[in-house]
Amino acid sequence: MSDYALLVAPSVNRVYAADAPRLLAAELDITMAALGLAGDAVRLEAIAGLDYLLLSGIGDEARLAALVASSSAAYALFAREGALLRPVELPATARFSDDLVTIQKYTGKTNEQLTTLLMNVTLAASARPQLLTGGRAKLLDPVCGRGTTLNLALRRGFDGYGVDVDRKDVEAYSVFLKTWARTHRLPHTHSFAPVRRHKKTIAQRLDVELFTDRAAQRSGHGQRVAVAVADTTAVTELFAEGTMDAVVGDLPYGVAHGAHRGHDLDRRADDLVAAAMPSWARMLKPGGALGLSFNTKTLARADVEDACRRVGLQVAPYGDRFAHRVDASIARDLVVASRPAAGSAAA
Ligand SMILES: C[S@@+](CC[C@H](N)C(=O)[O-])C[C@H]1O[C@@H](n2cnc3c(N)ncnc32)[C@H](O)[C@@H]1O
Repeated sequence: MSDYALLVAPSVNRVYAADAPRLLAAELDITMAALGLAGDAVRLEAIAGLDYLLLSGIGDEARLAALVASSSAAYALFAREGALLRPVELPATARFSDDLVTIQKYTGKTNEQLTTLLMNVTLAASARPQLLTGGRAKLLDPVCGRGTTLNLALRRGFDGYGVDVDRKDVEAYSVFLKTWARTHRLPHTHSFAPVRRHKKTIAQRLDVELFTDRAAQRSGHGQRVAVAVADTTAVTELFAEGTMDAVVGDLPYGVAHGAHRGHDLDRRADDLVAAAMPSWARMLKPGGALGLSFNTKTLARADVEDACRRVGLQVAPYGDRFAHRVDASIARDLVVASRPAAGSAAA
């Protein structure tokens, strides 16, 4: 068993200020336990004047490095050897370059660290936590905006599905993806077209298939992104039910000014959750998990948890470990819940 020291990425201080080490420690506690890597609880310690997260009693360095590489805010990992720190190389696992996530800048964008954290603790609660370090999966963001979650899913090798009621967002995302794929000379197909049911147009839909290279294209090994312009309650009419390994979304914040958009007010966040939760739950595979982040000034965690339970999801016991302040009008928290795996009893 070995001990490791982890530096938190300095850039994350911009996002969470002093909360960054605490949030990353909670994420790693949960994801390490899900992968059976658990040693002692992750704790904070200063070494030579710098703050590190200490991970103790770990048996498998390669798996730890893979997990840390996909975590939301890790910067560098070291093995503790006596008084010395030995650098541990983090594997480069991302399928696509990070500009897929960082180029787009717009009002209302969810930061990528929070989105990664939410995705990770959601996968940890699913029946396939091994997806934390790789593999193929389907992920749905039911309020996807301009695709931060979908882009992070693509970088992990997943397929991304999204819904957003704001056509301008989906159009902007469509243009961005096409330009980005062309700039990187990645083979791809792209269409933005009406979806028709019973001779009626029910939505506009973006469909992209992206290949890492020509060989992947020839063998048909692409990754899909599909995004519909629609109300999220209609998601079961747009994508196949019971197919998603994870449903991950950053809900509307319900604030009308500053960095967040007015149309967030079109429907109150609590009404949206009550109306849409049954559809979101139906999208999950048995054993799949749902993770939502939200503003506790407009939506209470207990209400989100109740909405999950009413549709038969089991709420993960994360409590308020991820609660943190964003600004004067937003205090963020998250709820994760899973659909019982086939054969297990519902909550
Ligand atoms: C906090 S933003 C998500 C931003 C996204 N994660 C990103 O980084 O681009 C919430 C999104 O919910 C969308 N939304 C609000 N009500 C909706 C509804 N009823 N159906 C679908 N989308 C909705 C808004 O248009 C907005 O894009």
